[in-house]
Amino acid sequence: MSTKKENDMGAFADKVVLVTGASRGIGREVALAFARDGAHLILAARSADRLAQVENEIRELGSQALSVPTDVTSRDAVTALVDAATSRFGRIDVLVNNAGIGKVGPIETATFEDDVRQTLQASLFGMINVTQGVLPVLRLQGSGTIVNMSSVMGRKAFSRFGSYAIVMHAVSAFSDSLRQEVNGGNIRVSVIYPALTGSDMLREAAEAEMPPPFRHMTPLQPEAVARAVVSAAQHGKRRVVLPRTANMLLLGEAVSPRVGDLIAKALTFRPIAKLLGMSRGKTYHETISSRPNPV
Ligand SMILES: NC(=O)c1ccc[n+]([C@@H]2O[C@H](COP(=O)([O-])OP(=O)(O)OC[C@H]3O[C@@H](n4cnc5c(N)ncnc54)[C@H](OP(=O)(O)O)[C@@H]3O)[C@@H](O)[C@H]2O)c1
Repeated sequence: MSTKKENDMGAFADKVVLVTGASRGIGREVALAFARDGAHLILAARSADRLAQVENEIRELGSQALSVPTDVTSRDAVTALVDAATSRFGRIDVLVNNAGIGKVGPIETATFEDDVRQTLQASLFGMINVTQGVLPVLRLQGSGTIVNMSSVMGRKAFSRFGSYAIVMHAVSAFSDSLRQEVNGGNIRVSVIYPALTGSDMLREAAEAEMPPPFRHMTPLQPEAVARAVVSAAQHGKRRVVLPRTANMLLLGEAVSPRVGDLIAKALTFRPIAKLLGMSRGKTYHETISSRPNPV
């Protein structure tokens, strides 16, 4: 385990990083990765117990941590979060807007509209709330970085992921506008577009409900996404797609939806998914079934 002294030499030594959705999955790994690089963390999510566990893990790495149980869809809760962060640390250098949910189901299901509304509420309006809460702090400081979590599906939708893809496209557009609005100051905006990642997000979706290409895909490790977030914040990258080979899909889609659809369909065939580095080991359901069920 690295000590505080080693952490002090990290790229984020004594920087203050606020991560939403830090109680598990990608957000937890993002918080730990910044702590390993010397940062102090403000952790936000709804589950107080899990946040407290992550807070302890960060302290063990030699960094300071403050967990603030927060529902990002509540403006009052977000105001309290930003107040708690600035009272404790006096500044916020990096905001990682990671909290979110995802649902799987075809557009013709009765719950589709509700799925869109719920996902918009948590993943988009939550992001807008937190961004609007933190931006005045960054403006006052004259510097800061915002990293927003989208998905490959924020640039190319897949069947059965309509509700999620709608919201991830919205996150992408929000981030694009924001980056241009803050342009000229010392505030940077990055967007991360990961492919399927091994977290609890889709635990409730049965394997058969997933779109065919996803059934044999090997998910990214949350740690790999976390490293990409830290690197994006460090180098001010505007856009990061993970894995890099997913750029071929996005390039195909940019040329024509026919080409995009063809690539999406081709991924249904395991040898092609293997060739593109997207099917290299355990499937999503094999990955999550080997972990204890979250309580
Ligand atoms: N897993 C994937 O395949 C994948 C791929 C691309 C992008 N992403 C994106 O990555 C982000 C993290 O997802 P994950 O895979 O790590 O999922 P996860 O394990 O389900 O974690 C989601 C996190 O968001 C928090 N959260 C959800 N609703 C919230 C709310 N209203 N207020 C505050 N916190 C809330 C959850 O904490 P509480 O329940 O404690 O509130 C949890 O910490 C999401 O934005 C997701 O869209 C995921």
